[in-house]
Amino acid sequence: MLGAGHVGPVIARVAIAAGFHVTIAASGSPERIALIAQVLVPGAEPRWAADAVDDSDIVVLAIPLHKFATFDADLVADKLVVDAMNYWPPVDGVQEMFEDRQYSSSEIVQRRLARSTIVKTLNHIGYHDLEDWRRPAGSPARRALGVAGDDPGAVEAVAEVIDQVGYDTVRLDSLRAGRLLEPGGPVFGASLRRADFELAVRARAA
Ligand SMILES: NC(=O)c1ccc[n+]([C@@H]2O[C@H](COP(=O)([O-])OP(=O)(O)OC[C@H]3O[C@@H](n4cnc5c(N)ncnc54)[C@H](OP(=O)(O)O)[C@@H]3O)[C@@H](O)[C@H]2O)c1
Repeated sequence: MLGAGHVGPVIARVAIAAGFHVTIAASGSPERIALIAQVLVPGAEPRWAADAVDDSDIVVLAIPLHKFATFDADLVADKLVVDAMNYWPPVDGVQEMFEDRQYSSSEIVQRRLARSTIVKTLNHIGYHDLEDWRRPAGSPARRALGVAGDDPGAVEAVAEVIDQVGYDTVRLDSLRAGRLLEPGGPVFGASLRRADFELAVRARAA
């Protein structure tokens, strides 16, 4: 988990609850996030970012996009990277890199992290809700999360993790389609079961 702010620790916590081994890092030393890890994410190992990434199968990137321009792309080269980030100018300020609205923010993230495989998910649910809305597979009240990517194998791998965490998944077959998960899109901040989620994204995509 790269990012130990609002959403990073919650994603880490639900991943640990689902049985995954999680390391967590922010922009500085592990000592700086030791208390956050201990209190908010018991069981997660605080590390330097490079060490956290090194032995990870999946890296979740949950840093503000106004910090992305200085993020070291080599750090996550050859990794499967979950992009949980949103471009939100009121919070991020105007970031030239993300202003070209013909591209989804994840396409821009992918272009810059050219040696990584990007999958977009977890960005469209608030950090409080992520923990509350988990349900076991088969529960009638189970909500869905969108999982978007250009690489079907990577989408599949991430969708399996999301399922284990406690959500149905609706797969979108490109990072371009991941635009449907962005702020202003039909499912951003929504709490939808799979059928309604599918309807919402298909209606907008049509
Ligand atoms: N808040 C939500 O409910 C929510 C839900 C889903 C998605 N998101 C998205 O997730 C992203 C993060 O949001 P947030 O609210 O969690 O932000 P935040 O509270 O500002 O936390 C940002 C975290 O990123 C770390 N960071 C910054 N640069 C880094 C780097 N180069 N390497 C590793 N860590 C770095 C910061 O560490 P330092 O303090 O050490 O710099 C901090 O721990 C945003 O794009 C947001 O849109 C948010």
